[in-house]
Amino acid sequence: MPRRDSAVPPRWSHSLGGVARRPCSILLPGTATLIEAKEIIGDIADEYEPPEPEPMRRIDPHTLEIDARRLTMAIRSAVSCRKRGHSEGASGRLANRQRERIMPPVESDEAGQISSRRRVKDMTGRAKITIIGGGNVGATCAHWAAAKELGDIVLVDIVEGMPQGKALDLRQASPIERFDCEIIGTNSYEDTAGSDVVIITSGLARKPGMSRDDLLAKNVEIVRSVTEQAARHSPEAVLIVVSNPLDAMVYTAWKASGFPTQRVVGQAGILDTARYRAFIAMELGCSVEDITALLLGGHGDDMVPLPSYTSVAGIPVTHLIAKDRLDAIVDRARKGGGEIVSLLKTGSAYYAPSAASVQMAEAIIKDKRRILPCAAYCDKEYGIGGYFVGVPCVLGRHGVEKVIEVPLAPDEKAAFQVSIDHVKELVAVAEKLLG
Ligand code: NAI
Ligand code: 2OP
Repeated sequence: MPRRDSAVPPRWSHSLGGVARRPCSILLPGTATLIEAKEIIGDIADEYEPPEPEPMRRIDPHTLEIDARRLTMAIRSAVSCRKRGHSEGASGRLANRQRERIMPPVESDEAGQISSRRRVKDMTGRAKITIIGGGNVGATCAHWAAAKELGDIVLVDIVEGMPQGKALDLRQASPIERFDCEIIGTNSYEDTAGSDVVIITSGLARKPGMSRDDLLAKNVEIVRSVTEQAARHSPEAVLIVVSNPLDAMVYTAWKASGFPTQRVVGQAGILDTARYRAFIAMELGCSVEDITALLLGGHGDDMVPLPSYTSVAGIPVTHLIAKDRLDAIVDRARKGGGEIVSLLKTGSAYYAPSAASVQMAEAIIKDKRRILPCAAYCDKEYGIGGYFVGVPCVLGRHGVEKVIEVPLAPDEKAAFQVSIDHVKELVAVAEKLLG
């Protein structure tokens, strides 16, 4: 084992060539300083293999390109693995393979800086986002997240080659669309290590004639398995669950991860509200931007859009749309998922669902503390008693920071109760399957 009493262990110093001599050139986002990280990694170097692609690349005999961000991510992940006592991990494997490569030190300036551009980029502390399931929703999440430059993206799927191909394709769009982020596709959870946000989209999607509930048995199995693996590699992440039936899958992910309820949240309300808002804008012929709305309950056809909390540029929607038209809009929003399924015939919606999921990821990564309708854990809130259901909540760096309770009229309360009862039934089945 390497000595731990020196600031820069010899092994690390050797393996990272010039980088180790410039501890100030790379800042480590999160919890540890680079020197601390290097001490830790030096100590565990024998146990790790590096991830692909590696953070350092020899361009010619005089030039060594160092991707400071990737290096920092690798260090961060290795620190995270180390803290959890894991002896394996893709990012953690960095030290070993780097050590095996003979890399002469980089030429440096007096101050020992790598390059100002790299440093500035690294100092932004880019987030790491894992998206599990590289199908329609997952791949489109990657697209929206990359376009917004939300962070580095890891797309995971069980199908070999597919996430790699989609990630590469998306990456090749970056010079055109001008986004700077790492995008990798993988079949290995080791590459997901140290993620800040994990979006779970893996599982079966609806086909015409199927309800979301028909997906339960198969998707419990899938969501449990992927969550266990993701949580093991990213123990500090916030999980955003998208797979259906949503409310039962959030519950499944919570159980499988062992995470605090605050760091497990489901995407449905933003999508359902967006559909409702879009239909109102279509009815009024006005901008969707001027419509704010609220919707409660599970992600089923019994969800509860609330006209009493819907306004158009501050004007109550009930002043602008007659009751029968508004009832029709509410009904169409509730069945919005089914409408798309019957049109597509081979799958379900994905542009709006993934935009909604990425809006949640953005609120968390940027600690925006946005108030968004999400499937959040409610115990005393609304008297729900320990289930994840759609409610307005404050979404920030720690996940769900607060559930907001709003007064409801008797008919709204009754409709909400129907939806909650449905969620409870689904969770009871999921619990049995989870054993
Ligand atoms: P899709 O079929 O296009 O993609 C699902 C992907 O999951 C596939 O690529 C599949 O290979 C992958 N997968 C299956 N098992 C896996 C495993 N064990 N590990 C890793 N990957 C695995 O389906 P789509 O359209 O992307 O939908 C995904 C899920 O999201 C479905 O359950 C769907 O019902 C749900 N959904 C939820 C919405 C919401 O608002 N909450 C909205 C839209 C879809
Ligand atoms: C939707 O609402 C299928 O849950 C998905 O489009």
